[in-house]
Amino acid sequence: MKRLENRICVVTGAARGIGAAICEAFLAEGAQVIATDCNETALHDFAQKQGCSAMRLDVGCEDDWNAFATQYPEIDVLVNNAGFEQGMVAHDPEHASLADWHAVHRVNLDGTFLGCRYAIGAMRNRPSGSIINISSRSGMVGIPAAAAYAASKAAIRNHSKTVALYCAQQGYNIRCNSIHPAAILTPMWEPMLGSGPERAANMAALVADTPAKRFGSPAEVAALAVMLASDEAAYMTGTELTIDGGLLAGSAAVPGS
Ligand SMILES: NC(=O)c1ccc[n+]([C@@H]2O[C@H](COP(=O)([O-])OP(=O)(O)OC[C@H]3O[C@@H](n4cnc5c(N)ncnc54)[C@H](O)[C@@H]3O)[C@@H](O)[C@H]2O)c1
Repeated sequence: MKRLENRICVVTGAARGIGAAICEAFLAEGAQVIATDCNETALHDFAQKQGCSAMRLDVGCEDDWNAFATQYPEIDVLVNNAGFEQGMVAHDPEHASLADWHAVHRVNLDGTFLGCRYAIGAMRNRPSGSIINISSRSGMVGIPAAAAYAASKAAIRNHSKTVALYCAQQGYNIRCNSIHPAAILTPMWEPMLGSGPERAANMAALVADTPAKRFGSPAEVAALAVMLASDEAAYMTGTELTIDGGLLAGSAAVPGS
């Protein structure tokens, strides 16, 4: 028996990167997957290739979630994965505009809030449910150049615990956990890497402080999502799993050297 057989699993931001890898891993474990993304063209290309269901969903849009709930009133697993970092726009705490701050929170935090709210209703009458929120290493430490991103990811970390406790209090068999990746090689990094001879040096520089000295792969994050979605994690709720090549285990600063 595969680990996710007979489970209806929804993934947001699924057209590429970590979300796409999670869909692939869920499908390999026998799940019925509904891939969602706001990029309709990329989503349908992906879903066609994988042979899974797909529905356009902008996670920051309440009407989209309502339409999704009408189409899929009951599910077993939701991965709130969609997120973005505001690319090259400066959003340090001194110069960020309020509009940039809100734009990041709309996707990362409002999207996760709306997703959790939908999932609680859609999982309440199922035998069990698992909500998996993709936060970040950036939700655990300050990031001077990405104030909104870091704050939104920290809020996701906390909201996951609130959802976990609320569901337990209500007697719902719904678990909620967060995953905190760092430096996972997805298209999100491409603008920083380049495609010329500088690429290898840029990659090495970006993981210089990572103890494992390499990027992680989307499939490595997907393996954690499979575990949290499955019955193997039946006793895990309100917890946070880091997947960061050891980055958060210590500090790059070496005292006395
Ligand atoms: N890649 C990393 O190193 C890394 C590290 C830490 C956390 N994360 C988190 O993992 C998640 C996935 O990251 P990724 O690297 O695969 O990103 P990505 O940019 O490669 O893919 C993100 C996907 O989300 C979709 N998306 C963006 N805004 C959306 C919206 N409003 N509604 C629905 N879909 C939307 C995009 O169309 C895209 O398909 C994000 O939440 C990100 O913050 C990534």
